[in-house]
Amino acid sequence: MTQLKRRTFLTAALGGLAGSPLLNASIGESLSGASDPGTTHEAKTPGNERFWQVVAGQFRLQPGLRYFNNASLGPSPRPVADATEAARRMLDAFPSRYMWGGWKDEVEAVRTRAGKLFAVSPESIAIIHNTTEGMNLVAASLELDPGDEVIIADHEHPSGTIPWQYWQEPKGVKLVRPVLPLAPKSPGEIVDVYREAITDRTRVISMCHMVNTNGMILPIAEVSELARKHNILVAVDGAQSAAMLEIDLDKLGCDFYSTSAHKWLFSPKGVGLFYARKASQHLLKPLIVASGWEDDSIRRLENYNTRNLPEVLGLGAALDFHNLIGPSLKEARIRELKRYLLDGLADNDRARVQTPTADNLSCGIITVGIDGLGAVEIRDALAEHDIDCRPMSLLGLDGVRISVSVFTTKADVDYLLEALREV
Ligand SMILES: Cc1ncc(COP(=O)(O)O)c(C=O)c1O
Repeated sequence: MTQLKRRTFLTAALGGLAGSPLLNASIGESLSGASDPGTTHEAKTPGNERFWQVVAGQFRLQPGLRYFNNASLGPSPRPVADATEAARRMLDAFPSRYMWGGWKDEVEAVRTRAGKLFAVSPESIAIIHNTTEGMNLVAASLELDPGDEVIIADHEHPSGTIPWQYWQEPKGVKLVRPVLPLAPKSPGEIVDVYREAITDRTRVISMCHMVNTNGMILPIAEVSELARKHNILVAVDGAQSAAMLEIDLDKLGCDFYSTSAHKWLFSPKGVGLFYARKASQHLLKPLIVASGWEDDSIRRLENYNTRNLPEVLGLGAALDFHNLIGPSLKEARIRELKRYLLDGLADNDRARVQTPTADNLSCGIITVGIDGLGAVEIRDALAEHDIDCRPMSLLGLDGVRISVSVFTTKADVDYLLEALREV
């Protein structure tokens, strides 16, 4: 196949990857309603249910399932799944061509779009597998002295704590585990916890942007500013915040940020993004070394040899899908659903919201308990109604973690509220 023919075939087969017309047609048409005259002029506003029903129609959840578990794993919408499948077919049609350089430009185009997601240069983005990998990368890389301290608060996910627990003994570092307030009145209360945990031996703060237990948002920008004054590195676990919140990583000011694209970005499973500030990149050592390891760009951190390229290209389609909805509209919609859910819960005498509700402290994840029932009992009772959510009984929480996303409609929330009244 000539170069030109190959390129044409590739564009046709992968559809919208790198913003090419096919994907834009398939999602764009649906989102603008061109495929459904009744919704052609639907306003893209956070509260217009008819628009969000069109968006929900792009997802292929099991019929009848009410999925309030995006925080565990996101579904891929049709255009993303189709683009990934097209890439798989291409790869299987000529494996060696595409695995070893044939998709170099396409992968770089994904990196560029991932950089835009976080308003940073693509040269600060590595395409990895998931948050767990990014958190491991930081813990394994950093050269610390015995007695140095790493702050990891109590609500951190095991993916953030286990890598440090693993390296604690070999590196001789001390893990400092401050307790976060469950119902802070303001982000300042959380900053105070970190401020008090800092000593002259603190070298790293490893923290979630949004904790997975009850969805509390941690004030990364404020903690990073504080850390900078003490020469402390900040590594952020962004599994629950990336593509839910609109994020400008330069403004957040952290050194490292790891996320899984398969949650709020709806990418194929097993792809993630890792950001390292330019000035902190030299501190990182690849977890896997293979040919090309000498590359001094951030690409050395994703040098896996044979890898899941169709999923990486599917990530590009997921970024396109995200941008077609629009990052700020997506966050606004999730906030609208959160408000709607909280208003409904306020009418339930037995419901106890266990997440701080102010907008600067939470967004799409709310943990709620029901008087007289344990977390698993509530989850099981909701499962009888075909509702999926995650039980949380730790650190003073005892309830179910509800996550709302762009495929959630207000009718879904009404259904959940009714089921919660019945349990
Ligand atoms: C806060 C947080 N960090 C890390 C992870 C792990 O994500 P992954 O398995 O994609 O690495 C999760 C998964 O739920 C999470 O909620």
